[in-house]
Amino acid sequence: MRRARIVAFVLVIMLVGGCGPAGPEVYDDIHFRRADSLLQLMSLEEKAGQMTNIGLTALTQGPFWNDFDTLLLDTAKMQHLLIDQHVGSIQNKGIYPPSKEEWHRIIKSLQQFVLENSHHKIPLLIGMDGVHGATYTAGSTIFPHQIALAASWNPELARITGEVTAYEMRASSQPWNYSPTLDVSMQPLWGRMAETFGEDTYMHKVMGRAFIEGQQGESLSDTTRVAVCPKHFVGYGTPFSGKDRSPAYIPEHYLRQYYIEPFRAAIEQGAVTIMLNSGSVNGVPGHADTYLVNEVLKDELGFKGFVLSDWEDVGRLASMHNVAHDSKEAAKIAVMAGVDMSMVPYDASFARHIIELVNEGEIPMSRIDDAVRRILYVKFKLGLFEQAWNDPAGYTRFGSEEFANESYKAALEAITLLKNENELLPIENKHTKFLITGPGSDALTALNGPWSRTWAGDDPTYDDPDKKTILEAMQDIYGAGNIIHTPGTAYEGEVESRDHLLSKAANVDVIMVCLGERPATEKPSDIDELDLPANQLELVKRLHQSGKPIILVTLQGRPRIIREIEPLADAIFHAYWPGHEGGRALATLIQGKDNPSGKLPYTWPRYSGTLHTYQHKGSDKLDGEFGDGGFNPQWEFGHGLSYTNFTYNGLTLSADTIHTGETLQVRINLRNTGPYNGKEVIQVYLRDLVASITPDDRKLVAFEKVHLAAWETTTLEFLIQYDDLKFVDLNNQWVAERGEFEVLVGGNPTSLNKTSFFYTGESP
Ligand code: BGC
Repeated sequence: MRRARIVAFVLVIMLVGGCGPAGPEVYDDIHFRRADSLLQLMSLEEKAGQMTNIGLTALTQGPFWNDFDTLLLDTAKMQHLLIDQHVGSIQNKGIYPPSKEEWHRIIKSLQQFVLENSHHKIPLLIGMDGVHGATYTAGSTIFPHQIALAASWNPELARITGEVTAYEMRASSQPWNYSPTLDVSMQPLWGRMAETFGEDTYMHKVMGRAFIEGQQGESLSDTTRVAVCPKHFVGYGTPFSGKDRSPAYIPEHYLRQYYIEPFRAAIEQGAVTIMLNSGSVNGVPGHADTYLVNEVLKDELGFKGFVLSDWEDVGRLASMHNVAHDSKEAAKIAVMAGVDMSMVPYDASFARHIIELVNEGEIPMSRIDDAVRRILYVKFKLGLFEQAWNDPAGYTRFGSEEFANESYKAALEAITLLKNENELLPIENKHTKFLITGPGSDALTALNGPWSRTWAGDDPTYDDPDKKTILEAMQDIYGAGNIIHTPGTAYEGEVESRDHLLSKAANVDVIMVCLGERPATEKPSDIDELDLPANQLELVKRLHQSGKPIILVTLQGRPRIIREIEPLADAIFHAYWPGHEGGRALATLIQGKDNPSGKLPYTWPRYSGTLHTYQHKGSDKLDGEFGDGGFNPQWEFGHGLSYTNFTYNGLTLSADTIHTGETLQVRINLRNTGPYNGKEVIQVYLRDLVASITPDDRKLVAFEKVHLAAWETTTLEFLIQYDDLKFVDLNNQWVAERGEFEVLVGGNPTSLNKTSFFYTGESP
């Protein structure tokens, strides 16, 4: 519908640099005083137990790695670990996902056991990986992964995802979430990129804050909120080799500029726990890095919550990193480096080491008291002493239609249209005949990815029966009779024969082929090359021979190389791991009942051997004379198409010169030049033209997503803060240098509007 021009005026004040307003007041004296009083009554053994976090299945019948369908607690193990060894924290589950009622049974029994049998009746702190929903509880709402939330460029969706996740975790008596993942990842080979907000620091700050705000709310004692645990401090997301938990080499000034800032923002937002990096940075394992943990995280950033080790990573200082001779020395190194709680997770060996180390004078009691005070503070703050479990019957919105709809909205805004040649999309004709194929076409696991019911998320045993795969969602819209399905190929392996595929394609109008990665995380997500497996590429090549238009859909959390098949597809959607409602959202976008508005949160490389991020340097652009090794990705960070067109004009700045401490107002007009209503992401970048160390090509300093009806016009204003001009110099100081800066604004990274200003380097 064409509308009269509406001129709207939107004032957008973005939070920039390290100077955003602080979040809710988290640290309060009352709870620290309660922690102090309790601490005075505790023995060394009790304190060491509080610093210990074990896996739930260390307390259940059968072996630790069991695949039982019911978790039965083992009283002898509970007595030994929770009472005799005083273990104070439990996490994770076995293979199968319990219902919220079962979680209630298990956690209530554990908490009651401790309250009835222990001296000080200190409740257990139960932690879980609810990284995209309370996904370890059967029947919960599964949201898109973080990378997809980043692709929505809509922090409100991250906030709501956090809020629903917290509600459903509390419905399962879980008050502590190992989320969000704030690992800026400039290494697309790394398999956990999907769990992050992508390659940009500012994106991590904005989305991370929103996600934490949603999870923690105003008060942690609110029994619909959880304590967060941002992870993995710091530098985990850019391993040199691309392999999980492997070494990173990041100069300190880059660590500070790109990787530490999201954690600073998380602390400002009130994060009360933080998990460490399993790998090493510049040769120092994350769990042994006293400079980064004690000096930077705790002293400089003022983090007063507690620091959690990652899984088994204290022991790994000896068994993997070779900086300790044995697990006892490892415990000493980790605790002295600032680790407050160790995710052991199989037994209480860590607690025994701590007791010995203190008795031998190797660890001062003051360090133990500091760690336990931080841990008790979080337990008090969460209100666990008053209420250590939650009644699932009180959480009537759990797994509701309302929550599923929130997940659907997030998926709709995340799914990114990368290509749409000859306006193949949208396909409004409901009688269109499709061939739907590919390993992701009829699998819920392909939508949900890892950390979904199970750790790897690749086991369909735990599929929720009422959720729709892509095939089923397309059948709902276009009718089962109009859709032919054939698997085509698996993630790896044989491809169906050319003749078979062409016979399937003979009578259809359009082919939709859903490719991607088998869900995986951590070590199992390691790959040896970035190219999508050859069999999947071959499937598209064979289908192309039919001459029918092809819609390619990619389901994965990192950019796999598709250079060879990109020209064979008329339309390409990148769906990330969009969650339970992803199939429905994708089908709606194909039909044109909604308009794509996702934009890439990472640079999509064209070649495995040429990996750049959008921040790249001037020397990355060198090409031509000596080959074409320059910056030439398949698609740039920030790229994403719409069914409508957005036109920008009138970029102006409030001044052409600024002084130290001053802010600058950026104004631009935006028009939806029809024919569809739609959302646009306005991206604001800053480019420092000359600096004392090579400046980045540009950096994102603000963004906003707005909805515009067809033909509607709006004017947007953004503020560029003085701090945005800064970078970290070789002395590890944030500095702004005199000179010219460009401001680049737009929705398409290859055609940004540009203007410039001069910074005098002087006070006004
Ligand atoms: C992962 C963490 C996770 C923890 C508990 C580790 O292996 O690296 O991200 O929170 O396990 O499941």
